[in-house]
Amino acid sequence: MNATFIAFDGTTTQVEVDEGESLMQAAITNDVNGIVGECGGSMMCATCHCYIDDAWLEAAGPRNDGEEDMLESATSEVRPQSRLSCQVKMNAELDGIVVRLPETQI
Ligand code: FES
Repeated sequence: MNATFIAFDGTTTQVEVDEGESLMQAAITNDVNGIVGECGGSMMCATCHCYIDDAWLEAAGPRNDGEEDMLESATSEVRPQSRLSCQVKMNAELDGIVVRLPETQI
């Protein structure tokens, strides 16, 4: 399965993502600029903030409670498409997902 990250400057990176792997992990493994993932995926940092493309928004599911709280401390604007990428786990429905990255995470 794969995911495409589009950085704020328009740089597009397509990466392979295993089933169950988070978008944050996939971005870090592949040196995608624009995802920091400071806390390693434990929902303590909001430096993995991303915007899910509208076409995959429903399949990505709703934010969970802790995620909602943590997004409040995100540096960049929170939009309806905002998710913490460490909380979005790859599955067949999300294959090909397009994710945009905010201007800054810190
Ligand atoms: Fe820290 Fe996602 S990596 S909240």
